[in-house]
Amino acid sequence: MAWRCLVVFNVISVIIGSSSGYEPTWESIDSRPLPEWYDQAKFGIFIHWGVFSVPSFGSEWFWWYWQKQHMQPYVNFMKNNYPPGFQYQDFAHQFTAEFFNAKEWVDIFASSGAKYIVLTTKHHEGFTLWGSKTSWNWNAVDVGPKRDLVGEVAAALRSGSDLRLGLYHSLFEWFNPLFEQDAASGFKTRLFPDAKSLPELYDLVNTYRPEVLWSDGDGDAPDQYWNSTGFLAWLYNDSPVRDTVVTNDRWGYGSICKHGGYYTCADRYMPGHLLARKWENCMSIDRKSWGYRREAPLGDYLTIEQLITTLVETVSLGGNLLLNVGPTHDGRISPIYEERLRQVGGWLRVNGEAIYNSTAWRAQNDTLTPNVWYTYGPQRKAVYAFLLDWPKDGVVDLGAPVLSSPGRTQVEMLGYGSLQWNPMKPSGVQVRLPLLAFNQMPCQWAWALKITGVA
Ligand SMILES: *[C@@H]1O[C@H](CO)[C@@H](O)[C@H](O)[C@H]1NC(C)=O
Ligand SMILES: *[C@@H]1O[C@H](CO)[C@@H](O)[C@H](O)[C@H]1NC(C)=O
Ligand SMILES: *[C@@H]1O[C@H](CO)[C@@H](O)[C@H](O)[C@H]1NC(C)=O
Repeated sequence: MAWRCLVVFNVISVIIGSSSGYEPTWESIDSRPLPEWYDQAKFGIFIHWGVFSVPSFGSEWFWWYWQKQHMQPYVNFMKNNYPPGFQYQDFAHQFTAEFFNAKEWVDIFASSGAKYIVLTTKHHEGFTLWGSKTSWNWNAVDVGPKRDLVGEVAAALRSGSDLRLGLYHSLFEWFNPLFEQDAASGFKTRLFPDAKSLPELYDLVNTYRPEVLWSDGDGDAPDQYWNSTGFLAWLYNDSPVRDTVVTNDRWGYGSICKHGGYYTCADRYMPGHLLARKWENCMSIDRKSWGYRREAPLGDYLTIEQLITTLVETVSLGGNLLLNVGPTHDGRISPIYEERLRQVGGWLRVNGEAIYNSTAWRAQNDTLTPNVWYTYGPQRKAVYAFLLDWPKDGVVDLGAPVLSSPGRTQVEMLGYGSLQWNPMKPSGVQVRLPLLAFNQMPCQWAWALKITGVA
């Protein structure tokens, strides 16, 4: 009887379009086309939040650097500021989140022009920001805030914005005894994935329905140990987000830049050329840390000019930018992060036409003038040239555009209007920028020229 039910079930699931499809092999998993929304979105916000936000010193790798590597700054920080015997676990009680208001966060993220966010639900420390049933009490519902932080962010995002929810999840945990035991066996035993990482991955997807699942931290264990292809086949075939979910490439030792969904390849990845596969540049406004650092001086935060430059170069090269902020232990996004995000948003309100839904053009940067980057807008059949510098003499020579019939060519600056231009010999366009008073500038950093009627 049982097998007949199974046959009927399979027929039904084929008819309604569930199940089947992807096999638990990399060949099959890698063949899935990336859902379109992700490439169109171009820009997301990464959020590193956890118990490491309590010491908020050095880096989100605090526990490892202190207890495993015994790095001097961390050892001294503990010796000078905490009683003897104070353990990393004791920080969890000070993870209070009393100023955390998910609506305020969503307002800041939406104001940045981002189309998705990625929140750390569990970093390598293993502390979960939701009430994971397989975390013992090492989670934000039982200790610290006593709140479902993932649930609050998800609810605020969905009720108050059109941003998509992405969740970061670390496969391994530095000091989990089950993981340590598996590692000691050369990953022949699989106690930890069965008891911890896989139940939590299924729980996250079923409970919060993320549309980005950002995997990290393979702990040098192969994907077979993590059963990554088995999990991804379920994610793509049968999960509640199977049609829209995207994932990255960090699913086991050696899978990065090779298998999975889009490529991340390395932190702060900037390939310098087009890739055959969609990719993402994840980087942090604080150049030295992903988690909040109280001791960071202003000079460690990237300037808005640097951030706009990175966004433009990333999108010109076909990537998405995932820009990180680190909230404080009490749940604030500090004003310096907030200002940077709102500045990017102000810039995107003028120049978003050249970013969202764009594709890489024939040339990524100009052949004559440095610091000019291109995108293409298929909907408007327009080439966009981003000028990272305002030319001193008001004239910019663009060598890459080829004018097929110059009578049909038009050049305008986004947020301003038409510009004068001349064809160059043997090819190219010389554009004359207007003399603008400071308050006539459409934006303060990086100006986009829209060129129509080029080959
Ligand atoms: C791997 O995942 C698949 C899909 O959930 C499951 O059917 C299979 O039993 C898992 N394999 C192991 C070794 O856990
Ligand atoms: C991008 O394209 C999609 C699908 O065509 C559309 O729904 C969306 O509004 C576009 N976004 C922008 C910012 O143009
Ligand atoms: C365009 O970018 C490439 C790769 O980054 C670089 O080698 C080249 O010098 C750039 N061209 C100009 C004109 O700056």
